[in-house]
Amino acid sequence: MEILKKKIIRLGAMSLVIFSCSAPKAEQALHFHEAFADKFFIGTALNTAQIAGGDTVSMAVVRQHFNAIVPENCMKSENIQPHEGVFDFELPDKFVAFGEANNMHINGHTLIWHSQTPRWFFVDSLKNDVSREVMIQRMRDHIFTVVGRYKGRVHTWDVVNEAVMDDGTLRPSKFLEIIGEDYLQLAFQFANEADPEAKLYYNDYSMAIPAKREGVVNMVKNLQAAGVQIDGIGMQGHVGLESPSLEEFEKSIVAFSDLGVKVLITEWDMTVLPSPWENTGADIANRFVYRPEMDPYRAGLPADVAAQFNERALGFFKLFVKYQDQIDRVTFWGVNDAQSWKNDWPIKGRMDYTLLFDRNNQPKDVVYEIVALGSKK
Ligand code: G3I
Repeated sequence: MEILKKKIIRLGAMSLVIFSCSAPKAEQALHFHEAFADKFFIGTALNTAQIAGGDTVSMAVVRQHFNAIVPENCMKSENIQPHEGVFDFELPDKFVAFGEANNMHINGHTLIWHSQTPRWFFVDSLKNDVSREVMIQRMRDHIFTVVGRYKGRVHTWDVVNEAVMDDGTLRPSKFLEIIGEDYLQLAFQFANEADPEAKLYYNDYSMAIPAKREGVVNMVKNLQAAGVQIDGIGMQGHVGLESPSLEEFEKSIVAFSDLGVKVLITEWDMTVLPSPWENTGADIANRFVYRPEMDPYRAGLPADVAAQFNERALGFFKLFVKYQDQIDRVTFWGVNDAQSWKNDWPIKGRMDYTLLFDRNNQPKDVVYEIVALGSKK
């Protein structure tokens, strides 16, 4: 009996549902996203080289295995509006065009973020902080120009990124300092006005920390009480072999979805390398300086560590499948291990193994286990 699979392809705001018969398993080429076509999008971040056309090999992997994309860096304000009124849309345009040509779900990342925001955003010609009114106007101009350009083409936006500290308080950013707490509400309001069809998200890391979870819940409740359209909460999912616990991660999925919004896993990767924070042997000043002992797998990943990675990655996907009605997308922060930001953070020049495809763009063993999990009815 052929397996009928429901595939939902979002074309702008419209959803097109088609049914396709799957070939007998033996003949089927591996298409990772297809195993989850009836559950959630499977996405990846695209870096500059990929978007510019300089990495055709990993882009072939993107076409075969993913149905959602997000720009790793090219839409950040330091890149898209490096100077006031000067916009660089070359890479963002290519990014959106690739997504449209391949019928992918397109997420914009990110509009308002304390990091990677050019300094001019916050100061006047004398380098003094601008007024609240000027700051609001600059935020509005940025959001209206960027979101407006891709109206009806970018399906979802990470409107605000990383505005809550691990203790649950609001991050003391220049946006908060100059505008006040209502910068959050204004950011979502401007994005909604610029494209009423787009879905709007809040995105953050370390979201399994109880205090942060509570802080984000309170922030989103306040936004909802103010009548703000917020459609989803992005849990970045930058995890390690030991932390966070699946139990705490699950509590956050439940807490966020209980707010009546979608949960997105927006930047999943799993480092296998020792943490400089936990390896306090070094002088704190040198804790993040490259040391061979902090880069133990240059010759390859030992089988026992690979097995630990595979087991934990499968554990996360079992959790995502359990909450498939609450989760709209699972995105990896890159295609292959060589592209991972974790090779250079928190220590530059290491060799990490954080993603599902290896340095030769080959799927790791766990991909087949995850596909089998997703294919179960
Ligand atoms: O492109 C320039 C290159 O020309 C120059 O030679 C080089 C010098 O260091 O810098 C290159 O730009 C770097 C860029 O990544 C591209 O590699 C920037 O310095 C570097 O800051 C930037 O890091 C990015 C980081 O965000 C800060 O924007 C990482 O790639 C990216 O993976 C990371 O992603 C963030 C998410 O946006 C938000 N969540 C956390 C996540 C990890 O920090």
